[in-house]
Amino acid sequence: MSTIARPMFTYPLGEDAVLIPRTPEVAEPYHAALTANLDRLARWEPWALGENSLADTTGYIRMMAQEWLDGGILPVIIGVRAEGGWQLVGSSGLKIDKAARSGVIGYWIDGEFEGRGLVSRTVAALLDRAFGELGLVRVALYTETANTRSRALATRLGFTEEGVLRRAIAFPDEHRDQVAYGMLAEEWLNRPAAASTAPAAG
Ligand SMILES: CC(C)(COP(=O)(O)OP(=O)(O)OC[C@H]1O[C@@H](n2cnc3c(N)ncnc32)[C@H](O)[C@@H]1OP(=O)(O)O)[C@@H](O)C(=O)NCCC(=O)NCCS
Repeated sequence: MSTIARPMFTYPLGEDAVLIPRTPEVAEPYHAALTANLDRLARWEPWALGENSLADTTGYIRMMAQEWLDGGILPVIIGVRAEGGWQLVGSSGLKIDKAARSGVIGYWIDGEFEGRGLVSRTVAALLDRAFGELGLVRVALYTETANTRSRALATRLGFTEEGVLRRAIAFPDEHRDQVAYGMLAEEWLNRPAAASTAPAAG
């Protein structure tokens, strides 16, 4: 199991789940969860095609962590309460363009943990950061037009569908259409359910 016993720090996603910084200390559990989900993710993500070694994964995490220090990304993993710590069940990140004050969110969750609202809660927490202390004016989310679960998530959180980027996703055998969603700071901060989706402090 991909368990993290003592994370550096956690950000609460309610009672049962947390966000944990995606740093080299989580490389092994991250690699295990990623490997277990690779075939599933390869349906939607060209980067998931092909094998990755633990060294490749660690290198990628190290690079993202460095970018975090430089203010270019907020990389997190999703943990659910498990015996002895937190089970790593998914990953997300907010890429930040400081000059444009905009961001792009990406995510994946283990197949067994789909349908529990964990990614919605994660994206809501990242939007709180994006439009809170980071002061961004806009956050985008891009997904394949056929990815109904990902599109449902964007709609559920109140993103606006902004258009289709034709043949924008390059797979080895074909190019697929991608749909762009956007959220503006004022839309997120003034949404009707703002009070109920804000995570508890801690
Ligand atoms: C896209 C993906 C992340 C969506 O995951 P998900 O678990 O469906 O997303 P959510 O966290 O929003 O969960 C939504 C479900 O939980 C339910 N739910 C329960 N509690 C909830 C809560 N507090 N808030 C929101 N939804 C909740 C919703 O009703 C919904 O149920 P449904 O599946 O029966 O419609 C997942 O399918 C995935 O990892 N896919 C493969 C990778 C991928 O496509 N990544 C995106 C590339 S852009």
